[in-house]
Amino acid sequence: MSPLWKAVLCLTLFAAWRSQVEFRTMTSRRPRLDCAQRCPCSGQSYLHSSYSHAGTQARAPLLDEVLPGGHSVSVGAAIGGDEGGKASCLPLAREVGVRAAAGGGGNFIVSPLSIHAALALVAAGTRGETREELLGFLGSASLDELHGASSTDLAGRLNGLAQTSFACGVWVDRAQALEPEFMATAASRYAATAESVDFSSDPEQARRRVNGFVAGATDGRIRDVLPPGSVGSSTRVVLANALYFNGTWSQPFDQSATFTAPFHVPDGTIVRVPFMTTGRFPFEQHVAVYPGFRALKLPYKNDGDHAGRRAEAALYMLLLLPDGAALGLADLYDKAVATPGFIKSHTPGVQVPVGRFMVPKFKFTFEFEASSDMRRLGVTRAFEGGDFWGMVSGGDGLFIAGVYHKATIEVDELGTVAAAATAVAIQDSARAPRPPVDFVADRPFLFAIVEEKTSAVLFLGHVINPLAE
Ligand SMILES: *[C@@H]1O[C@H](CO)[C@@H](O)[C@H](O)[C@H]1NC(C)=O
Repeated sequence: MSPLWKAVLCLTLFAAWRSQVEFRTMTSRRPRLDCAQRCPCSGQSYLHSSYSHAGTQARAPLLDEVLPGGHSVSVGAAIGGDEGGKASCLPLAREVGVRAAAGGGGNFIVSPLSIHAALALVAAGTRGETREELLGFLGSASLDELHGASSTDLAGRLNGLAQTSFACGVWVDRAQALEPEFMATAASRYAATAESVDFSSDPEQARRRVNGFVAGATDGRIRDVLPPGSVGSSTRVVLANALYFNGTWSQPFDQSATFTAPFHVPDGTIVRVPFMTTGRFPFEQHVAVYPGFRALKLPYKNDGDHAGRRAEAALYMLLLLPDGAALGLADLYDKAVATPGFIKSHTPGVQVPVGRFMVPKFKFTFEFEASSDMRRLGVTRAFEGGDFWGMVSGGDGLFIAGVYHKATIEVDELGTVAAAATAVAIQDSARAPRPPVDFVADRPFLFAIVEEKTSAVLFLGHVINPLAE
């Protein structure tokens, strides 16, 4: 890591905002159809064309309708910071994030929750060592524990919130049948819909269907989670997940107060970017100062769920801003991932008077393919001819050909729109290949979108240059 990096670490804390901006619920454009409700647990019958208007609408079944007991599941072992290194997919996010930062290059964002959901769905269809490795990667001792994990529960609850939508899908080659038990689990635990497609003779059309489903579920923010060439005639199954978030700040920034100022990029460049601030003084924010960095908590407005009750998930953005040379972004990633409870214990709990207060607007997209990082983190069988008999009959020569992830975020005065998708392509090997504290985020910083109760990390990333897309 370059010394420049070390020079830019900041921990940001949050402002608690009280606002009257109304949240237009997404409900109106989300049909509440659910495969599991329409074709309960009878194997083949799941294989209908469940997404006939691919690309136009998100399918967002409510897990709690499918799984009446779902909400009683404890929310302790989230994919989030609380579990530290054990927390699934955060180590993966760290690997990729640190590499992105060291590359000197651009901004970075992934959704640990989305990756977790897609791989949990895959794990449900594996057996033997293939399953053991995936469970290890996902931080669960057994499939039951995985299905009961808080992140699984949270994924379901996200569909009950106005700001979020969460969708899973399984596409299987028409020559193959999904195992009834796998489909039942996918439908009940992950609210997944299933569709039979023709990978063999028209892989491009199948790829478009998956991408269309994801685009529909993310309001068009993620259009091509499966890149060209990722699906071929030997593809047998694709499992995908899409997560969409549109949150308004509980107290929005003052749009008329936004101004342009210098932001220090680690390579020494200074770019002029729009900074958000608040016009009213005196004011208080959830800011806390820790050794080497400071933190800002920006809560999102809690809009309640579709039924008008108070939402069960409270989301906030956490900014961690290194003070200077002593601590770099990579060090912050290490702390956040390796220290159990780091995110929770470094989320400012009280508001303090703030002096200078500047947070840049930013908007960018990041994508990567996770196979090599997953291999480094101990998952090998699934990539080399694993045991997928739990997913499809004759699932012997199958292997994961690619784990594609794409995430995007836009932060402005009113709030945040973020979306992510993960698609796993499974192929047949036989055919294959205090005193007022300042918070001036004018240097690279880390950010995360976190669920309050569980500390689950929906999004994690950093900004190096707010102007870069
Ligand atoms: C996000 O929600 C806000 C408030 O309801 C709404 O005004 C805005 O149009 C939404 N943004 C998108 C991209 O849907």
